[in-house]
Amino acid sequence: MQVLVIGASRGIGLEFVRQYRAEGHAVTATARDEKGLAVLTELGAKALPLDLLDPRQCTALGRRLEGERFDVAILNAGVYGADKAAPSPPTEAEFDLVMHTNVLGPMRVLPALTDCLAQGARLALLSSRMGSIGLRTSPNGWLYRASKAAANSVLKDASIAFGGRATCVAFHPGWVKTDRGGGQAELSPLEAVQGMRAVLVRLRLTDNGAFLNHNGEALAW
Ligand SMILES: NC(=O)c1ccc[n+]([C@@H]2O[C@H](COP(=O)([O-])OP(=O)(O)OC[C@H]3O[C@@H](n4cnc5c(N)ncnc54)[C@H](OP(=O)(O)O)[C@@H]3O)[C@@H](O)[C@H]2O)c1
Repeated sequence: MQVLVIGASRGIGLEFVRQYRAEGHAVTATARDEKGLAVLTELGAKALPLDLLDPRQCTALGRRLEGERFDVAILNAGVYGADKAAPSPPTEAEFDLVMHTNVLGPMRVLPALTDCLAQGARLALLSSRMGSIGLRTSPNGWLYRASKAAANSVLKDASIAFGGRATCVAFHPGWVKTDRGGGQAELSPLEAVQGMRAVLVRLRLTDNGAFLNHNGEALAW
């Protein structure tokens, strides 16, 4: 299988690379600094530089991926950003960092995938249950929540644009022990990624455009 992981220097993205490489799959993965690229190369992945905040690098990614045919594409990169509860406003810089990474980033990368998804490919965007409007009971982290709700909208549109060729889903990975999730989180990256990979394998065409928990359970938008 050919696998693409966007944002793979650490945490959940790196674990996707580890697990797919451990099974011998061909993995292309991105990181935004030399240290991250070296980690990926060490794992036997084809490492490409990508900072989602740099539009030129996103355009260059499209050229670098020309001719590839990915069976699995994981859009993992994301930031939590300023931890403010409603109605405490983010600054413009705080807003831009989170929205540009979590929303504009996927919108910049998805065009690069138009011609390099294999027929029957699976594409997953790492969203968050915090982006669910239907399940919401807390106003904390409202900037991150807004960004993941918007990212869900981006994934839904991608599922329509790519439908017929790829099955596209938004994932809540669970609360995962990473730099983002912290040490108190419920799942190890290993468990979370094992769960999501198993879900990807059993996706059917009718799952296109779904919002799923790491165990495959459907989540309310
Ligand atoms: N952990 C959780 O409990 C949890 C829960 C719900 C959803 N999620 C989502 O799952 C995804 C992965 O989370 P994680 O816990 O693994 O987070 P993490 O440990 O903080 O890792 C985030 C990854 O995103 C990359 N990234 C950030 N900004 C980027 C940019 N501008 N361009 C390219 N890459 C960028 C980071 O690269 P650098 O190393 O260069 O910073 C890193 O590889 C995120 O989308 C997150 O929102 C996580």
